Amino acid sequence: YSSLAGLVNRNPRFSTLNDEDIRYFEGILGNKNVIQDEERLIAANTDWMHKYKGSSKLLLLPQSTDEVSQILKYCNSRCLAVVPQGGNTGLVGGSVPVCDEVIINLSLMNKILSFDKVSGILVCEAGCILENIITFLDNEGFVMPLDLGAKGSCQIGGNVSTNAGGLRLLRYGSLHGNVLGLEAVLANGTVIDMLKTLRKDNTGYDLKHLFIGSEGSLGIVTKVSILTPPKLSSVNAAFLACKDYISIQKLLQEAKRRLGEILSAFEFLDGQSMNLVLNHLEGARNPLPASMHNFYVLIETTGSDESFDKQKLEAFLLHSMENELISDGVLAQDINQASSFWHLREGIPEALMRAGAVYKYDLSITVEKLYDLAEEMRTRLGNVANVVAYGHLGDGNLHLNISAPQYDDKVLSQIEPYVYEWTSKHRGSISAEHGLGLMKANKIFYSQSHETVQLMASIKNLLDPNKILNPYKVLPDSVSS
Ligand code: FAD
Ligand code: MLT
Ligand code: ZN
Repeated sequence: YSSLAGLVNRNPRFSTLNDEDIRYFEGILGNKNVIQDEERLIAANTDWMHKYKGSSKLLLLPQSTDEVSQILKYCNSRCLAVVPQGGNTGLVGGSVPVCDEVIINLSLMNKILSFDKVSGILVCEAGCILENIITFLDNEGFVMPLDLGAKGSCQIGGNVSTNAGGLRLLRYGSLHGNVLGLEAVLANGTVIDMLKTLRKDNTGYDLKHLFIGSEGSLGIVTKVSILTPPKLSSVNAAFLACKDYISIQKLLQEAKRRLGEILSAFEFLDGQSMNLVLNHLEGARNPLPASMHNFYVLIETTGSDESFDKQKLEAFLLHSMENELISDGVLAQDINQASSFWHLREGIPEALMRAGAVYKYDLSITVEKLYDLAEEMRTRLGNVANVVAYGHLGDGNLHLNISAPQYDDKVLSQIEPYVYEWTSKHRGSISAEHGLGLMKANKIFYSQSHETVQLMASIKNLLDPNKILNPYKVLPDSVSS
């Protein structure tokens, strides 16, 4: 992939790692958590999409907040650049070094610290893997308000740092609402304890929000406290087909109105996404095999009364069929069938990787206009690439993916800046949930005003004056170097 990796010049302000630095880190962490092994470094230098490759010579695995603090204090005093890393599932080149930044991976800080069954408040270390938290909560009779396809590898610290959205934001809201508190370490090693477990706390500025979604550019998140809802007894999933995009929009409106409080997901995929996933994902089965359709929707309901919920869902489906909003559909008969629907939806990113090169865009656009962009891209690209569109329709979040046999600058020039300009013209966001990372740091002005970006730069300067935290990411070169 040629468009970014080679284009960034190493900032000469940063020092280069030497033997004395290694000895210092070994003194803090012990030899076994100071990693210089080539194979492990290759993995830590390479992102999930295999698109971005750094050349870091050092991976550090702290086991406590105090160790993170000592590492950062030292790096700041030496002007050594660092990249915070969680599960390394980020999709915008934010979690891997661009040049030789020291990688600080939180995976050994993976303890659940407390869980209050009365309030549903969980406190844990940032390196906990999301799926482990989901399982822990399930055993306690609660659910995690966040779920996403990368749950088996991503860490809660990474989720918080990207403000990940995922499959149930429609129901539970974003991490800005569900994270009640956090602990973060600033670039100079200062530990900021904001690890509150309160629903309400209006004592001054709510600074935790600076760390939610700032992609490791303002501090390293070390602990998190999250509000989790109780697990409800009745979960249903329906996989539906629609003939056109107008029908999907009407279906969404009806789902919100008729399913109301039990609606917990409304995901969509187009026919091209379905084809791709059937061709490239192991174990994928079309739940509606009789014929191919233009659009598919996965609706999930979660409620507390089985017969009431079923009745509601069936009435909604009947109404949708009578009004020709859906052309076919199937209601999961058991948990296995429901998981096979989710496997299909959550497996699209992996299927795209298997299909070849992928240009990935993550956009917020009003639902009404959202699919126009996919259609315009199809017209622009003709048969040189496959336009695959899916996403969290209930949140107005389109995942526009252009799949091609290999990366090609000619294809890229057909896509960019068109996609960004189109999104900006329609007052959308060029990063709905994945963040800016390296990929979009210099594209920020498509979605934010100059004044806003300048204020972000001032905050960055205050918290990390030497700019050692995740350089070349999030903020554009014009304000960050
Ligand atoms: P990483 O990838 O390691 O890091 C992401 C960013 O956070 C980097 O900038 C890194 O520097 C920073 N960071 C990581 N840990 C910390 C920390 N402790 N303190 C400070 N900074 C830190 N995203 C969605 O929003 N919704 C989805 O539905 C979704 N689905 C996905 C499905 C798949 C198959 C994949 C591969 C990715 C998906 N993503 C999704 C992308 C998403 O951002 C990540 O999966 C996840 O939130 C990142 O967590 P991570 O631990 O892997 O972080
Ligand atoms: C998803 O919703 O599947 C994720 O955000 C990943 C992607 O966009 O490919
Ligand atoms: Zn997504």
